[in-house]
Amino acid sequence: MDYFTLKGSQLFAEDISVKEIAETYDTPVYVYSRATLERHWHAFNNAVSAHKHLVCYAVKANSNLGVLSVLAKLGSGFDIVSGGELARVIEAGGKPAKVVFSGVAKTSSEIEYALTQGIKCFNVESIPELDRINRVASKLDLMAPISLRINPDVDAKTHPYISTGLKANKFGIAKDEAIKAYEYAKSLEHLNIVGMDCHIGSQLTDLAPFVDALERLLMLIDELATRDIIIQHLDVGGGLGVTYNDEQAPHPNEYAAAMAEKMEGRDNLTLILEPGRAIAANAGILVTKVEFIKKGEEKNFAIVDAAMNDMLRPALYNAWQKIEEVTMQDLPKAKYDVVGPVCETGDFLGKDRELAIEANDLLAVRSAGAYGFVMASNYNSRCRPAEVMVDGSKHFIVREREKLEQLWAGENKVAD
Ligand code: LLP
Repeated sequence: MDYFTLKGSQLFAEDISVKEIAETYDTPVYVYSRATLERHWHAFNNAVSAHKHLVCYAVKANSNLGVLSVLAKLGSGFDIVSGGELARVIEAGGKPAKVVFSGVAKTSSEIEYALTQGIKCFNVESIPELDRINRVASKLDLMAPISLRINPDVDAKTHPYISTGLKANKFGIAKDEAIKAYEYAKSLEHLNIVGMDCHIGSQLTDLAPFVDALERLLMLIDELATRDIIIQHLDVGGGLGVTYNDEQAPHPNEYAAAMAEKMEGRDNLTLILEPGRAIAANAGILVTKVEFIKKGEEKNFAIVDAAMNDMLRPALYNAWQKIEEVTMQDLPKAKYDVVGPVCETGDFLGKDRELAIEANDLLAVRSAGAYGFVMASNYNSRCRPAEVMVDGSKHFIVREREKLEQLWAGENKVAD
């Protein structure tokens, strides 16, 4: 459930009309709803409340300081994949002690930064990474809390680009190597084994692969206990899907409850969740203006002012995102490819969409709060859009629209 609703003929973000937001901040503009972010976060947190747990929002989904600060105020933990994301979390008021650090290639300086900030845990993905973390911790004379990311070899049945828990993927340590890897970690002096984690993929709409993976990890945890390696937390990653079109995505409640159920009787094992998309996707929209209507011989095009550089998912994954009119009008409907100004045939936001529009109308690309702005680029020397947070009847800018000078900040002309 989100707080982008039609009131009369106007699309509203909470208590403000999207049209008013576009008039205030210009387009293209990302608009986020604080109430929706909070609602989604609470859905996860409440569903696992009977068990010791920590919800670590996956910062990569949307790392805007406004978004992170909303979640930090709720007491959220964070899943990060770079030093940059850690810096953002700290800047937004998040606590390093609630941060888990994922990713296959953490650099020594990122490890040092995270260690000195006192993060909760490194989610380690390989043996050489164990060595690297041990080396950095030893230099600082600190103990590094670690978890091993286990690749449970389950098929998440999602888009191949966002499936991560198969043997063929680059992520994690193979299930069959896990015990050996933990024994090795135990032998390293500056590592403190605290957890086990996994992440099998993103946009999963079936709970079975999650439960499968969790069961496989629990078996490993029991096996480790017989070898005196005691795991204190189990991090099941993120990956819960959302409804973009007509997918039947389980409610965060059902997902979190299914995880908590498997943890029953394991009171000393803390459950960690790393949801990104399920918290942020439907808490945001991208608002864009129709520049021209172009009637082609085979197709009609709605050429809009947002492009693949602003919202990459359709071009990159052929992802489908709902596109709707911001103002309902009594106009004839027609089918359009909604395309941007970038010079690429792949620059589209949606194809064959029935819309009642004319030039200068506004369109909303729904479910744009996750993997939207964060994947934006300056391709074609386009300034990235502004981002706005709505909170009831208030709205404020959480990221200014980029300015031209910022496009070449840090660049140099050659001297003669
Ligand atoms: N934890 C780890 C270790 C991850 O790699 C990811 C996402 C998450 C948590 C959060 O997963 P979520 O709950 O958001 O599914 N750009 C793609 C999605 C890439 C996801 C990568 N990893 C897209 O736009 O669909």
